[in-house]
Amino acid sequence: MSNGKLEQTLVLIKPDALKNSLTGYLLSQLSEFHTGLHFSGTKIVYVSKMLAEEHYAEHFGKVFFPSLLEYIMGNIHYPDEPWKRRVIAIVYQGSNAVKRIRDIAGPTNPHVARKDKPGCIRALGTIVPIEGPDGKVIGERIDNLIHASATPEEAEREIKLWFKPNDIPPLMHIYPTEISDDYYYFKDNQFRNKPEPNAICLIAPGDIAWKTDLEVLRQLKQGGTPAYTFQAVAAKYLLNSGIS
Ligand code: RTP
Ligand code: MG
Repeated sequence: MSNGKLEQTLVLIKPDALKNSLTGYLLSQLSEFHTGLHFSGTKIVYVSKMLAEEHYAEHFGKVFFPSLLEYIMGNIHYPDEPWKRRVIAIVYQGSNAVKRIRDIAGPTNPHVARKDKPGCIRALGTIVPIEGPDGKVIGERIDNLIHASATPEEAEREIKLWFKPNDIPPLMHIYPTEISDDYYYFKDNQFRNKPEPNAICLIAPGDIAWKTDLEVLRQLKQGGTPAYTFQAVAAKYLLNSGIS
């Protein structure tokens, strides 16, 4: 690996891509042969509200935010088939991974993608008007098939949101990990530091975790202000549990 910095990036194959059977096409476009990048993690994920809100936290409050959540949770493309609501989450690793995959994905807006970069993945996307309660168009939902981290910093936040260290082969860990020496629990969407009836143990002593997640949990235990939210830690431990 010589032509650039070793990076990881998060890709999500979104529900519109799954519904249109584009998974094989996307994986082919992103294959090692075409990109020089390697798989370092992959999973099929039911996107809980908690995970969707954390993933797209930067868009909170925007007019398209509620429909963006509905879209990524699969509610839009699988209204009558809830068991099909899922995305495929993939971590790719290699030199300049973030930019390489963003370039193949193309511009966010499929109309712009078709005009400026025909052939890119998002050129196959679509835009759907969002109507307000009175039926007037108040914004647009952008169905663009794929998510790709925009910067290495965003990639780190997102990979840690969707993947635990032991979802990724140990020699591919590029973010610091630590072994927990304490118990941390979840109940009623809140952090708990003691076992209680119906509390879920997220992390126990001896578990390997992202160092930053353990820092967040320790801060919460001490009553301090963590660097990011408890939900950003909890979402991946509750992933595919049916709890959101
Ligand atoms: P992504 O995070 O999904 O890879 O997309 P992106 O970086 O190209 O764009 P970003 O600004 O992060 O937006 C995330 C997703 O929100 C929807 N969006 N809708 N209606 C709008 O103006 C608008 N802007 C963004 C898209 O689905 C976009 O992929
Ligand atoms: Mg983005």
